[in-house]
Amino acid sequence: MNTVDLIRKKRNGDPLTREEIEYIIRRYVAGEIPDYQIAAWLMAVYFRSMNDEETAILTDVMAHSGVMLDLAGAPGFPVDKHSTGGVGDTTTLVLIPLLAAAGLTVAKLSGRSLGHTGGTIDKLESIPGFRTDLSREEFLGQVERFGVALADHTEDMVPADRLLYELRDVTCTVDSLPLIVASIMSKKIAGGAKGIVIDVKTGEGAFLRELEDSRKLARTLVSIGSQLGRKISALITRMSEPLGSMVGNALEVREAIDTLRGKGPEDLADLCCELGAELVIAAGEAQSRQAAIARLHSLLSGGEALDKFQELVRLQGGDPKVVDDPQRLPSAAKTFPIRAAQAGVIAKLNALDIGRAASLLGAGRFVKEDRIDPAVGIQILAKIGDSVSVGEELAVLHVNEQQHLDEARGLVLSAYVIGSELAEVPPLIIDRITGN
Ligand code: URA
Ligand code: CA
Repeated sequence: MNTVDLIRKKRNGDPLTREEIEYIIRRYVAGEIPDYQIAAWLMAVYFRSMNDEETAILTDVMAHSGVMLDLAGAPGFPVDKHSTGGVGDTTTLVLIPLLAAAGLTVAKLSGRSLGHTGGTIDKLESIPGFRTDLSREEFLGQVERFGVALADHTEDMVPADRLLYELRDVTCTVDSLPLIVASIMSKKIAGGAKGIVIDVKTGEGAFLRELEDSRKLARTLVSIGSQLGRKISALITRMSEPLGSMVGNALEVREAIDTLRGKGPEDLADLCCELGAELVIAAGEAQSRQAAIARLHSLLSGGEALDKFQELVRLQGGDPKVVDDPQRLPSAAKTFPIRAAQAGVIAKLNALDIGRAASLLGAGRFVKEDRIDPAVGIQILAKIGDSVSVGEELAVLHVNEQQHLDEARGLVLSAYVIGSELAEVPPLIIDRITGN
């Protein structure tokens, strides 16, 4: 076997065997195949694609390219969730303690912000003292004793994905369904969970804007996860407007605390309970979706999920008092309201523009090296379907550095389309894709 033959085989559209995929991935990670050959191979995959069997093999081989987490010592059924990325997507901060309160085990590895979407690790780091850089021993020890941990990815897991992603990024090959699926699922498989739910966002603020593309991605993720022995389902959810009412790091921690208290925005709470229900069912802990959803809502209103969040903050060195006193979180020096120029009903609220505006204020990163400001962001006061009068506040910018303020203001204002007629609020959950 040699690399040229495998590039040719894929270029000609023939499926690769397990041995062939192992040859490519293992040798690339070991530094034995140069980038230019893998770049050609990626382009061949881009044009010729992969069937489900090849994609499952690629996922499995990538997952095994580094350390695999062993959650056999965990007290409950280990679950994980993944979102394809949205704006103001505060779900992980709520869902992780909520699932732990439901008795499931959650060993969650998360990422940082890039582009117009935020990252859970940055959000958590706005809590004074909170440590996200747990060692493997600390992470697994905490999972085994308390059933919950939430930390940053480590370099020694799934190195194949990091290497391939960097190359895909500069060779125009990110946009390939089998490569996206293998990238997402290899990280989930290496994370050790038995039950997985994927939130596939669709709309202006999502990685995939078109519903049909999101549906295809969801179906393939579920198929590959099932083939690799996981209980997996996906929800396709609307990301045309931001989720909840906060976009920004400390602001989203506040929003999560409100939601864990049963007093958060309805869309965020509903989505968390819907996603969570998939995992409660995967764990065999509920008879029906309805029962699972009702149970999760009661853990929010009853305070159990909030207690779990406070415990998680304490376990990872954060200030647990932020739960009762959110003033202890960083806050911005100034606020600037954005006001409606006309009366009417909000017809559109472009999540991508809001995400970009929040990043401009310092809540996100345009390149990996950017520093984020935990205090800044955007509070959304009017959402699709709301009526507003002239001069009414649509949103509030939370600002420290004023360098990009005008640009951010312009983006937020143009994100809003105010119409004269009653706008239909489209459903948040568009479809549900389940495994076999
Ligand atoms: N998200 C990932 O983790 N990988 C991709 O390739 C695309 C989106
Ligand atoms: Ca939010």
